[in-house]
Amino acid sequence: MTNMNTLLEQMTLEEKIFQLMQLTPNFLSEDDANLTGPLAWMGVTENMVNNAGSVLSAVGAKETMALQKKYMENSRLGIPLLFMADIIHGYRTIFPVTLAIGSTWDLELAEKSAAIAAKESAVTGIHVTFAPMVDLVRDPRWGRVMESTGEDPYLNSEYARAFVRGFQGEDLAGDLDRVAACVKHFAAYGAAEGGRDYNTVNMSERQLRESYLPAYKAALDEGCEMVMTAFNTVDGIPATGNKWLMRNLLRDEWGFDGMLISDWGAVGEMIPHGVAADGAEAAQKAIEAGVDMEMMTSHYANHLKELVEAGKVDVKLIDESVLRILKLKEKLGLFENPYRAASEEREKEVLLSGEHRAAAREVAAKSFVLLKNEQALPLRSGQKLALIGPFAESGDILGPWSIWGKQEEAVQLHAGLAARLGADIVAVAKGCEIESATEEQLREAVAAASEADVIVLALGESSEMSGEAGSRGDIRLPQAQLDLIGRLKPLGKPIVVVLFNGRPLDLHGVIEEADALLEVWFPGTEGGNAIADVLLGDVNPSGRLTMSFPYSVGQVPVYYNNYNTGRPLTPQNASERYVSKYLDMPNTPLLPFGYGLSYTTFSYSGISLSTDVLNAEDTLHVSVDVTNTGTAAGEEVVQLYVRDMAGEVVRPLKELKGFRKLLLQPGETKTVTFAVTEEQLRYYHADLQLKSDAGEFQVFVGANSRDAESKPFRLVK
Ligand code: GLC
Repeated sequence: MTNMNTLLEQMTLEEKIFQLMQLTPNFLSEDDANLTGPLAWMGVTENMVNNAGSVLSAVGAKETMALQKKYMENSRLGIPLLFMADIIHGYRTIFPVTLAIGSTWDLELAEKSAAIAAKESAVTGIHVTFAPMVDLVRDPRWGRVMESTGEDPYLNSEYARAFVRGFQGEDLAGDLDRVAACVKHFAAYGAAEGGRDYNTVNMSERQLRESYLPAYKAALDEGCEMVMTAFNTVDGIPATGNKWLMRNLLRDEWGFDGMLISDWGAVGEMIPHGVAADGAEAAQKAIEAGVDMEMMTSHYANHLKELVEAGKVDVKLIDESVLRILKLKEKLGLFENPYRAASEEREKEVLLSGEHRAAAREVAAKSFVLLKNEQALPLRSGQKLALIGPFAESGDILGPWSIWGKQEEAVQLHAGLAARLGADIVAVAKGCEIESATEEQLREAVAAASEADVIVLALGESSEMSGEAGSRGDIRLPQAQLDLIGRLKPLGKPIVVVLFNGRPLDLHGVIEEADALLEVWFPGTEGGNAIADVLLGDVNPSGRLTMSFPYSVGQVPVYYNNYNTGRPLTPQNASERYVSKYLDMPNTPLLPFGYGLSYTTFSYSGISLSTDVLNAEDTLHVSVDVTNTGTAAGEEVVQLYVRDMAGEVVRPLKELKGFRKLLLQPGETKTVTFAVTEEQLRYYHADLQLKSDAGEFQVFVGANSRDAESKPFRLVK
């Protein structure tokens, strides 16, 4: 076994510098004639390519092994390439987008989805995935909310851990069907002003620590091997060159000594950010901040040598970065087996296997959130059904970041329903495009609906309207789809809206008109089957929102764990002018964090506390009896929130501190008990010390962040 320090000593300065470079496969494939373009433009030489440290993207086992073989033949010291790619919610078997997985409130399912994604990636030769993305999000205008698990620091932290466990497993070196995880985007990318991608992020260090940092830290505590920098500034300095963020906090305070990679082009973006005059200064700032690898640009390769020779950069910084990269390659066993799990044979058996499809179907069905239901669901057999809308027969249900998924392999809604209903589907009509409608399309939809007892209306956003650079200032459904609803409503038939989207939407013109509304997000490869499972009642929907649905985009940001303000709006002062409110809309979101309906109903008994005085070294037990008061078995997500009534700094009205998803048969009652400890009551004080205060608290237990019963208790120290 080669010692990495010994190997480092054998490397020339150039070899070290080029090891910090990540390129896309086309740079290394010999038959790509247009390489002269990027090679010339980026000043990338053959020597750099032959010594690059990593490849970004997945090209299948055969091509990956060929690239690695060719590379190793040229490598003077036999240092293998690291293959990395964006496997966010599945490789070939595409799971629902992460915001949907988050809506399952099922950590085991989340872990399972990541483990399957890891296995499918590993057999193609991928070593690292650029996931989990754990950016906290409060602004649905931002297209990448679909990649997050939502607006709560605690829940995001729990999911971050689950995804890392799924991707990496217990033994990354020994279990070749796992991949290293890379938590992103460090840090606070989800707080881009105006929800406009890549925009400025401005917040206090206390807000950063209280809300935005916990999930990254949780991923690292779970053993996540890598971190990716964010495009945005943090307190005026781009994250990729931010020494406080990357050295003081990430490496010194948190003790992270794994690999830190820039986001795509983020090193060079310090120039337009206005903190670097040129590529050399950008390279210097990034290496000084501790960025080990530069993704897809060549400022390190083109400038670090001269910076070292000019005495501007200490070669020790380069040695540190090279060593981190070599150690990850060593941990993955690449020096012994540069191909790791890559296998054409196993690709055939593993990718899109029946087992994986079944898992994707299960996760999807559990991710759907029933937002409204006035006796329209579940559909009853024998009902004549008209399936209408731009998503009735669409393969665009994989969502953003489904690069290696194939729409033609996805089960569309019509196929999923037809497999179960057959003759009951009496008509199918598109009714409109995503963003346009012809009079003929609208008429055809009305005609189709006229033959049916119930209309299933499949609406939503295209995947292009979400994801990276998919910011929207107006988060309503496109007018064409609202027009379609308007034409169908007068028929007086039950309308069941199935909504495909990657973000909370302004549901004006949709939710009032619908008799039922099922949020299915981008449900993935098995979407059509999973939706049929829920619409027909085989699966009782159990998803709960992890991001508030605003009443209007004018409220944004609107989130449940907000502060009270000095002039809170109350039922008593609602008619007064000088309170914190809007003149033209409510303060509260249309649908709150934690919200979701079921085909059954649940009741909560009164909360009982093991004590109402909690000593700092003790544990407070909070119990509640939950009963299924309906006629169908169903899963309820029992949620525990806490409020600190008075702190040294303002404290959120509620903070999620626990949840339990439990299955209840009709008439069944279960007692749910949560444990609350002093540690969970700690917060960042004005001096940024993380500690709790003795004092008054409230604990809430309920079905969502709005509908929850409370009881007081006191913490004594
Ligand atoms: C993109 C994304 C990042 C992704 C990377 C590689 O710009 O911001 O999340 O992992 O580039 O594709």
